[in-house]
Amino acid sequence: MAAQIIDGKAFAARIRARVTEEAEKLAHRHGLIPGLAVVLVGEDPASQVYVRSKGKQTAEVGMRSFEHKLATETPESELLALIDRLNADDAVHGILVQLPLPDHMDAAQVINRIDPAKDVDGFHVSNVGLLGTGQTAMIPCTPLGCLMMLRDHLGNLSGMEAVIVGRSNIVGKPMAQLFLGDSCTVTIAHSRTRDLPAVCRRADILVAAVGRPEMITGEFIKPGATVIDVGINRIERDGKMRLVGDVDFQSAAEVAGAITPVPGGVGPMTIACLLANTLVAACRARGLPEPKGLSA
Ligand code: GUN
Repeated sequence: MAAQIIDGKAFAARIRARVTEEAEKLAHRHGLIPGLAVVLVGEDPASQVYVRSKGKQTAEVGMRSFEHKLATETPESELLALIDRLNADDAVHGILVQLPLPDHMDAAQVINRIDPAKDVDGFHVSNVGLLGTGQTAMIPCTPLGCLMMLRDHLGNLSGMEAVIVGRSNIVGKPMAQLFLGDSCTVTIAHSRTRDLPAVCRRADILVAAVGRPEMITGEFIKPGATVIDVGINRIERDGKMRLVGDVDFQSAAEVAGAITPVPGGVGPMTIACLLANTLVAACRARGLPEPKGLSA
């Protein structure tokens, strides 16, 4: 194996340590304790695990965690009313509505009800527009985590060829905006892209965010490229359930210069960036300077 492993778990621990330090300063100097409200609708097992983890880590870095669990059949109007209350609550600086929502709810309408200043997911249309025009925004956590790891590993990204496989609102599109902000040449590839392996082989930086287990193999990768695997797929192999990415790690690691593993790569960075976003939102709400290195 040639590739260097980019350790997202260790990096995320460093971010959490910074957030803890900054949260302590806010508490001592300004009596401000950042608060994150997480709303879960329904019983999706994966979502329950994520929400529990978010609540635990929020408390660990010295911030307040507010959890709101609603039954699957809750009317959308009730969820919107809860968001209105959280928007008006001064103890809440960040609001996250866990996705996916039940089928009877309109996710776009729900997300756009969140005060953009409290939208720590960065999914509100206002934040999407602010990011797209290079203005101060809340940045979606997963792409922000990817960017932080890439800057840490590669330094200045200016002029690099970045290829993103996947065009989702949560990862692919905001990732492209962040790369443009760092002066990369950006391609978004997707399921209809012709000759995907050839497009991917142009990349100095390849981000896989397609949700298809181990689809990106070594033949998609330019020798020495940096590969970021956003996928988290549960598959059965040899009679056991395993977590694998969108990248076939074995063959990719033969060719890449550096690669994120699954688990232990992008995953831990996402929650660390959520905590960082909550801290940043609390500073902005009070008109305080933002701590350096915790945003784009
Ligand atoms: N479900 C899976 N990932 C995410 C995320 O980043 N934010 C929210 N709100 N829901 C998710």
